Amino acid sequence: MKIGVIGSGIMGNGIAQVIATSGYEVVLVDVNYDVLNKAKQTIMKSLEKLAQRKQSILVDKILSRIEFTIDKNHLKNADVVIEAIVENIVVKRTLFQELDELCEEKTILSSNTSSLLISEIASVTNRRDRICGLHFFNPVPLMNLVEITGTEETSSETLAIAEKLVASINKESIHVKDTPLFVVNRLLVPLICEAISLVDEGTASVADVDKGMLLGANHPIGPLRLADMIGLDTMLHIAEALYIKTGDSKYRVPELLRRKVETGELGRKSGRGFYQYA
Ligand SMILES: NC(=O)c1ccc[n+]([C@@H]2O[C@H](COP(=O)([O-])OP(=O)(O)OC[C@H]3O[C@@H](n4cnc5c(N)ncnc54)[C@H](O)[C@@H]3O)[C@@H](O)[C@H]2O)c1
Repeated sequence: MKIGVIGSGIMGNGIAQVIATSGYEVVLVDVNYDVLNKAKQTIMKSLEKLAQRKQSILVDKILSRIEFTIDKNHLKNADVVIEAIVENIVVKRTLFQELDELCEEKTILSSNTSSLLISEIASVTNRRDRICGLHFFNPVPLMNLVEITGTEETSSETLAIAEKLVASINKESIHVKDTPLFVVNRLLVPLICEAISLVDEGTASVADVDKGMLLGANHPIGPLRLADMIGLDTMLHIAEALYIKTGDSKYRVPELLRRKVETGELGRKSGRGFYQYA
């Protein structure tokens, strides 16, 4: 199978890497060659790191399976295209419309969206039976799960191909209905928001909330440190999506999260969030 990945940022380059590592030919598309070169460097460094532990990782061979291009026409005969561009419904819809017209009939179009409904994206195409969600987790080379989402119109053949693809790249999958935030983020985002509210209310310090979950629930990372890792702007975006899409007041967004984003404290990427990073 030939796999297309569109968007070569944090998620797209990781997805291209794991798919090429499993022997597939990959076409990785982005808007310009600066971004694509950066993605190539990221993939190379990641593969070199993995190769130190695993002899079967042949960096040059894996890289040679990835075509880095700005030309979407190269996606035309792909069996599956995985979209990993910006989280914006208008931009994603425009792209899906374009891909629907461009790609052969066999091509399955999928999205790695975190907070949009797959049906919202699929509705602009004429191949709604061949559209699904393939939600990978960050960092892709290390995280073993992919959530597979079908809409009411996704065919069972499409879901079977998606499941087979995920298994063939050595990842586990779970099947999820097309609902706000799917399963993992639906559980994780309220947990993080509740942790932020506990700090805002003065119930416990940042360090103690995290320590509580590390030692009391055996979580590998505290919720506030995890929020810093995800990025507080991204967290805010996803938390707002959950609140707006469900309309349920239990998902209200904590004020402290808004204040942090407003003052530029975005977590690890800005050097400061709930923790300070040197
Ligand atoms: N970052 C995460 O932890 C994470 C986890 C799971 C899912 N996601 C989802 O994955 C998707 C991508 O997120 P990301 O963090 O990799 O974003 P990112 O900003 O790192 O990368 C997005 C890339 O898409 C490119 N792009 C934008 N518009 C394009 C277009 N029309 N055609 C081709 N390329 C285009 C940009 O140049 C950029 O390189 C989003 O839908 C996000 O919700 C993100």
